[in-house]
Amino acid sequence: MVKLNNVEKVYRTRSIETLALTDINIHVRKGEFPSVMGPSGSGKSTLLNIMGLLDIPSKGGMEVDGQPVAAMGDRAMVRLRNQKIGFVFQSYHLINALTVVDNVEVPLLYRRMSNAERRKLALAALDKVGLSARTKHFPGQLSGGQCQRVAFPRA
Ligand SMILES: Nc1ncnc2c1ncn2[C@@H]1O[C@H](COP(=O)(O)OP(=O)(O)O)[C@@H](O)[C@H]1O
Ligand SMILES: [Mg+2]
Repeated sequence: MVKLNNVEKVYRTRSIETLALTDINIHVRKGEFPSVMGPSGSGKSTLLNIMGLLDIPSKGGMEVDGQPVAAMGDRAMVRLRNQKIGFVFQSYHLINALTVVDNVEVPLLYRRMSNAERRKLALAALDKVGLSARTKHFPGQLSGGQCQRVAFPRA
């Protein structure tokens, strides 16, 4: 599903260079459920940003679903991120001004899709997490666990 080959990440500013990742080799297969552990500053966020296609490695290669990311243009990468990758954050990051169903629809706005189809997919996803009775609520009117249950279908 995701493969990293000798990935390295260096953050460079004019005055300092920080080596965040060196020689990372990971192969995540379909159905696996890995976790990444390490002390603060050890490179966990950097790794997840790279695996989530939010950032690019300084060196080394990555494949998602057998496709080498380095060979991809921006548009292909954006499509891959939209269709295959989702993040669930510890602090939810829902949009407070949008209702539950509108939050779940946000990633679908970046796809070619009718309003009706988008709404249908979002409502079906919310039904799966047991939130059909809260689709018109705003995040501020939900419990923490309910907010996280909105973040899953959005992802
Ligand atoms: N944008 C950045 N610019 C410069 N250095 C960074 C940046 N982001 C992270 N770092 C450095 O890279 C290292 C790894 O950071 P990070 O991936 O955020 O660690 P973790 O998530 O494991 O706490 C740290 O030493 C940090 O100082
Ligand atoms: Mg972190």
